[in-house]
Amino acid sequence: MVNVYCLAFYFSLLSFLCQQSSTATHILTSSQPLIDGNTIVSQDGTFELGFFSPGDSSNRYVGIWYKKIPIQRVVWVANRNSPLNDSLGVLKIEEDGNLVLNRGKNAVWSSNASKSMEYPVAELLDSGNFVLRDVNDGNSTSYLWESFDYPSDTLLPGMKLGWNLKTGLNRYLSSWKNYDDPSIGYLTYGIINIHGYPDSSMRSVWKEYYRSGPWNGFGYSGQAKYEFLKADFVNNEEEVYYIYKLKDKSVVSIVRLNQTNSDGAIQRITWVEPSRSWVLGKSWPQDFCDTYSICGAYSTCNIDGAPVCNCLKGFKPRSPETWNKTDYSKGCVHATPLNCTKGDEFLKLARVKLADTTNTWVNKSMNLNECRIHCMKNCSCMAYTNYNISGGGSGCVIWSGDLVDIRQFNNTGEYLFIRMPASQKGHSGSKTRVVEIVIVTVVTLGMLLLGLGGCFIWNTKRKSKASKSELKEIVEDKDPIVENEQDQLQLPLFDLVSIKASTNNFSDVNKLGEGGFGIVFKGTLEDGQEIAVKRLSKKSTQGNNEFMNEVILIAKLQHRNLVRLLGCCIQGEEKMLIYEYMPNKSLDFFIFDNTRCAILDWQKRFHIIVGIARGLLYLHQDSRLRIIHRDLKASNVLLDTKLEPKISDFGMAKIFEGDQIEGSTSRVVGTYGYMSPEYAIDGHFSMKSDVYSFGVLVLEIISGRKNRGFYHPDHQLNLLGHAWRHWSEDKAIKLIDKSICECDSYNLHEVLRCIHVGLLCVQQRTEDRPIMSSVLLMLGSENAILHPQRPGFFMERSPLKGNELSSSDLTSYTSNEITVTMAEGR
Ligand SMILES: *[C@@H]1O[C@H](CO)[C@@H](O)[C@H](O)[C@H]1NC(C)=O
Ligand SMILES: *[C@@H]1O[C@H](CO)[C@@H](O)[C@H](O)[C@H]1NC(C)=O
Ligand SMILES: *[C@@H]1O[C@H](CO)[C@@H](O)[C@H](O)[C@H]1NC(C)=O
Ligand SMILES: *[C@@H]1O[C@H](CO)[C@@H](O)[C@H](O)[C@H]1NC(C)=O
Ligand SMILES: *[C@@H]1O[C@H](CO)[C@@H](O)[C@H](O)[C@H]1NC(C)=O
Ligand SMILES: *[C@@H]1O[C@H](CO)[C@@H](O)[C@H](O)[C@H]1NC(C)=O
Ligand SMILES: *[C@@H]1O[C@H](CO)[C@@H](O)[C@H](O)[C@H]1NC(C)=O
Ligand SMILES: *[C@@H]1O[C@H](CO)[C@@H](O)[C@H](O)[C@H]1NC(C)=O
Ligand SMILES: *[C@@H]1O[C@H](CO)[C@@H](O)[C@H](O)[C@H]1NC(C)=O
Ligand SMILES: *[C@@H]1O[C@H](CO)[C@@H](O)[C@H](O)[C@H]1NC(C)=O
Repeated sequence: MVNVYCLAFYFSLLSFLCQQSSTATHILTSSQPLIDGNTIVSQDGTFELGFFSPGDSSNRYVGIWYKKIPIQRVVWVANRNSPLNDSLGVLKIEEDGNLVLNRGKNAVWSSNASKSMEYPVAELLDSGNFVLRDVNDGNSTSYLWESFDYPSDTLLPGMKLGWNLKTGLNRYLSSWKNYDDPSIGYLTYGIINIHGYPDSSMRSVWKEYYRSGPWNGFGYSGQAKYEFLKADFVNNEEEVYYIYKLKDKSVVSIVRLNQTNSDGAIQRITWVEPSRSWVLGKSWPQDFCDTYSICGAYSTCNIDGAPVCNCLKGFKPRSPETWNKTDYSKGCVHATPLNCTKGDEFLKLARVKLADTTNTWVNKSMNLNECRIHCMKNCSCMAYTNYNISGGGSGCVIWSGDLVDIRQFNNTGEYLFIRMPASQKGHSGSKTRVVEIVIVTVVTLGMLLLGLGGCFIWNTKRKSKASKSELKEIVEDKDPIVENEQDQLQLPLFDLVSIKASTNNFSDVNKLGEGGFGIVFKGTLEDGQEIAVKRLSKKSTQGNNEFMNEVILIAKLQHRNLVRLLGCCIQGEEKMLIYEYMPNKSLDFFIFDNTRCAILDWQKRFHIIVGIARGLLYLHQDSRLRIIHRDLKASNVLLDTKLEPKISDFGMAKIFEGDQIEGSTSRVVGTYGYMSPEYAIDGHFSMKSDVYSFGVLVLEIISGRKNRGFYHPDHQLNLLGHAWRHWSEDKAIKLIDKSICECDSYNLHEVLRCIHVGLLCVQQRTEDRPIMSSVLLMLGSENAILHPQRPGFFMERSPLKGNELSSSDLTSYTSNEITVTMAEGR
């Protein structure tokens, strides 16, 4: 007993002394080794390195943990496979510049980075990286060795997961055996298929458990909401890696590979200060469908489906008996075998997690069409798609071998084009009262030739097979979006009688408004569903093209922030579009009204801004159908019951093909005040002209003032000029709508960031304006963003003499809120 007490006293004295001597050191030098009981602490006090015993074990290891967090979580272990059984370990830098852990004369662990250095130091950085470098080397970021290159089971922010292709170094996580034992377990998580389409995979030597799906430019293909590791992805000649990032540096959140008895998970764990605990956030795999290849080859897993696994269209179960017993592992096979010599086609799958990328080949510069041709030429190519869907879609990936681990998502995911024997694809089975969008497209093309006569063909469904398939070719060439059945949009045709009944015979009481080429009525269908009916005015022949444009466009588009088309109605001269009804009217109804503006507090406005941005991003960057809206304005943003914004009115929208980025027109349509200079003056439109309109809209939402018709007693500037002036004078806060300021719960940083982004969007030069994906990033990030240049059209009421506004046409605009159409003869 006495001995124990003595020992205890001795130890506490020792540890006191040690603490005294170890404070404030973050480095280890060759003359200052680290003994058990001492620690080193990163300069900002976040991380600590020293000896520890995990769980109930008495073994000693050298590790790194968060110093300030009372519940220790070790994020890195040095000697994980060679524990010490007592406290006699010493961590030191040897003569040859190596970092070693010795017990007596025996080296237990070594960094193996030998290179003679004059003044070697090992330093624990604020990031948690433990690095070995030479003080004499002027470059303080040139490390001989770093712990970040040899992760344990934990990914810290700033850490790379992946390969240095030059040195062959692969950084991957490997699990602890168990809570008490940090030695290498059976699970790893890292990047695979680096010479094809890189993917990340959680696996053991005998089994693959989960893959995140390849990085598609926006996120991981296998993640419905891209909410997996927040990371950046780099893939070039030298390196392929993810780098884990956290937006907010003050948050302590790590990613850990957790091995359990039967399987494991990649888990995000966050330290929550108020409850002083580590909280388990998301964990992957998330559900049944995340299980690797659970449905076998050529089938998709749909978590909401019954059954969950389904063969792709044109495929059948390889083993119907076991398939019927819900054993899907044997997968599916082509219902008709492929015969490459006869020529094949491609089935388009939409909203999927891309198949296992083990047998893939990538060309980053081909476009989708070249990709298709490349795949078609090689009989072993089973599928293709874009390499990077960000920025409109680019690059080419082709798959050979069986396609496994495809997952079906509801409303996100990617396209995958799958090789099919020519006879498999068909457009049979069009139902009565249901019009396939293909026909709509056919009719539009027909209309160009036949004028309005085309409508009658559509209406009476007189379609000759020959001409249909001929036109189908054209449609497919132009626009591969119309392919398989899931994706074949079927648009209900309403009949005139029921529409008349639903709107009280188009009574004035039901009138909701008047916009682009027609009057909009509210209707209530027999089953009680409320609808908005846009009735194309009979006189306006001009509106017919816009009408068809809108039908085709909207029918293909589905996004939370776009208004949904329920159907259409064509009878005789009547042409109508039936939309979901938006009880909360449009954005202008709120933001420009002195009392109603109070309903939209900052949080709601920010939500609306982000929603509009998302809708626009969807229009711009959906890789197969790039759409320029051309008439984005407050009155074209509708609000649903939850004040979720929905972009509407596609009457002016234009489709761009694959690589097209700019178009021009002699018919400038749009709304003054929202039109970018290059569009209003020269008729050039592009995604960037929509971005300009978006910027105007953002500034309007924040200020509660219209750009067009803005008046300020002190100067001649319009809202943009006014905003820019305040911004440059650091007084942007003055711009904010009083009704936002009165409610004190708003986040000033967020508002200022939005103003900043708005100003970036309205810059004079198109190339200075950001694309919508960057806009969304900037709206959500704390990071510094570029400084805006002067906006285009920042003087409005008295046209400049300079070259910004050389067009006298502009003064000929009259009313402010109506959509103008201007025939231009320059
Ligand atoms: C610890 O391990 C060393 C050799 O690695 C051995 O010589 C020693 O007896 C062990 N000590 C205890 C207490 O088990
Ligand atoms: C260092 O090299 C030795 C011998 O080659 C090897 O056994 C040991 O695992 C290496 N240590 C590390 C940390 O890689
Ligand atoms: C310092 O070294 C790092 C890593 O080797 C390198 O990326 C960086 O360019 C170097 N900086 C200078 C100033 O040489
Ligand atoms: C591993 O995951 C399980 C279940 O998800 C959890 O209960 C456990 O605490 C985790 N282990 C560690 C060390 O975090
Ligand atoms: C599998 O089930 C389907 C429908 O339940 C049935 O039509 C088919 O005959 C079954 N096939 C076999 C091989 O049992
Ligand atoms: C493929 O099609 C060609 C031409 O029709 C035919 O001669 C050949 O036998 C077919 N091959 C297979 C394996 O069906
Ligand atoms: C990728 O495709 C482009 C365009 O077709 C071609 O010029 C280039 O050689 C291809 N690169 C490789 C590695 O095949
Ligand atoms: C066809 O694709 C396979 C797999 O990618 C490849 O090994 C083969 O060389 C290709 N054949 C030709 C003729 O390009
Ligand atoms: C994907 O494309 C975007 C836009 O062109 C580009 O910024 C990004 O770097 C690309 N990502 C990869 C991984 O190539
Ligand atoms: C997918 O859609 C179905 C039906 O619309 C819905 O019940 C389900 O919750 C959705 N699933 C997800 C993951 O969003």
